[in-house]
Amino acid sequence: MLVFWGTDHFDTVEMSGLAIIVLAAGKGTRMKSGLPKVMHRAAGRSLLGHVLRAARDLAPQRAAVVAGPGMEEMAAEAHAVFPLADIVVQAERKGTGDAVMMARKVLEGFVGSILILYGDVPLISSKTLHNLTVQAADMTVLAFKPVNPSGYGRLILDNSGSVIAIREELDATPEERLINLCNSGIIAISSELLWELLPRIGNGNAKGEYYLTDLVELCAGAGRTCTYAVCPEAEVAGVNDRMQLAGIEATLQAAYRRMHMLNGATLTAPETVYFSADTVIGRDVTIEPHVVFGPGVSIGDGVEILAFSHIEGASVASGSRIGPFARLRPGAEIGADAHIGNFVEVKKAQIGKGAKVNHLTYIGDARVGPKTNIGAGTITCNYDGFDKHLTDIGADVFVGSNTALVAPVKVGDGASIAAGSVITRDIPAGALAITRPELEVKASWATRYREIKRAQKAARNKS
Ligand code: UD1
Ligand code: MG
Repeated sequence: MLVFWGTDHFDTVEMSGLAIIVLAAGKGTRMKSGLPKVMHRAAGRSLLGHVLRAARDLAPQRAAVVAGPGMEEMAAEAHAVFPLADIVVQAERKGTGDAVMMARKVLEGFVGSILILYGDVPLISSKTLHNLTVQAADMTVLAFKPVNPSGYGRLILDNSGSVIAIREELDATPEERLINLCNSGIIAISSELLWELLPRIGNGNAKGEYYLTDLVELCAGAGRTCTYAVCPEAEVAGVNDRMQLAGIEATLQAAYRRMHMLNGATLTAPETVYFSADTVIGRDVTIEPHVVFGPGVSIGDGVEILAFSHIEGASVASGSRIGPFARLRPGAEIGADAHIGNFVEVKKAQIGKGAKVNHLTYIGDARVGPKTNIGAGTITCNYDGFDKHLTDIGADVFVGSNTALVAPVKVGDGASIAAGSVITRDIPAGALAITRPELEVKASWATRYREIKRAQKAARNKS
């Protein structure tokens, strides 16, 4: 996990007795979307995925995600990070306290610390979470000091600096509203204390909701201590609408650009390059302006990616040159020292070491052997309207310009295909394939035709 707010990297540690609960049942009305809010993506990864990955660095034993009704798509997202995560459905949105109550049944029997997270707070770092879980108190609230505290719950402290209450904005007195130490919503609490206090939370507040934040007052009342840790405001930025989603995207992009440059990539215009959270870039890679990396990309050392290329679900081995204007789609595996040029699209295809596909070409569902040269305008006709088929091209093959390879078809090593051919049968190694109609040349035909046309035009203009 990338740590944005420090210079050091927090390594995965083995900790005993940690469970996480991610609250994500909110519909996200302001997103104006058919998709649950936490399934919206930033840097190619869902908001929920960002939160879960930050938590995964703490190696929790258990994970529960509280979803709303009809949010089935969240299960796959959660299981991609925690294969054994429990997804619990909060049937009615009755507040953050009620949401945690829903997770209780699946965490029955678990003893240790419970870390409660929000699914729509994606920039939280594993370092901050770790810092929260190692506090000695029975309960620790993650606080921050926002530039504008309005809308947040305020932390009420006693003289010793312990937290004795969290007051929601709507329930706060004018004096309490002046406090700028605010609740991020993220808390760490011992399971024993949580299960003891949770049933005591009521809904006698301005919103009529079960507030998780009431735990703090209950904790103090039970003679237990609640403390707080402070993190930068940017780390607990939430997403409520698409403007805030774009803000999160911008923060992540800035962080990834910086990280890849510090790791040895040259970005000539960093502000125009878009990474995914999982993009892997080797050393001495040059990335020209306006390059987009979708999810699942890995780039080897010394690769050059020229301007306006779009790369997604693809791997590029060391020393290759991609673009300008190249499109690598899922399943493209580009071998070392290969060239993929302008207006070339590669999908689910292996391109061998040193092969060249330089101009205006579609290579899909194919294998292209080492050192093979694919001429301009070559198309693998992979789809027959029902199924996809393989085009298997050997090593050292020469494919002339404007060749259509009608799959399934195989071209043996060292074969040559003449320009303009339509290949519908396998070509043996070393053979020449040519499907070209006989060329006819009619001497002086064009000159005579031009003279006739000019004469016709002159006659028309006179009349
Ligand atoms: C909450 C905190 C507030 C804090 C703020 C930080 C409470 C009562 N208040 O307020 O102190 O300053 O977050 O952003 O906790 N959710 C459910 N089920 C529910 C209600 C909420 O899963 O029934 C989830 C939401 O999807 C969201 C999170 O809990 O991820 C927080 O809910 P939200 O309604 O945004 O709480 P706030 O009013 O912002
Ligand atoms: Mg909120």
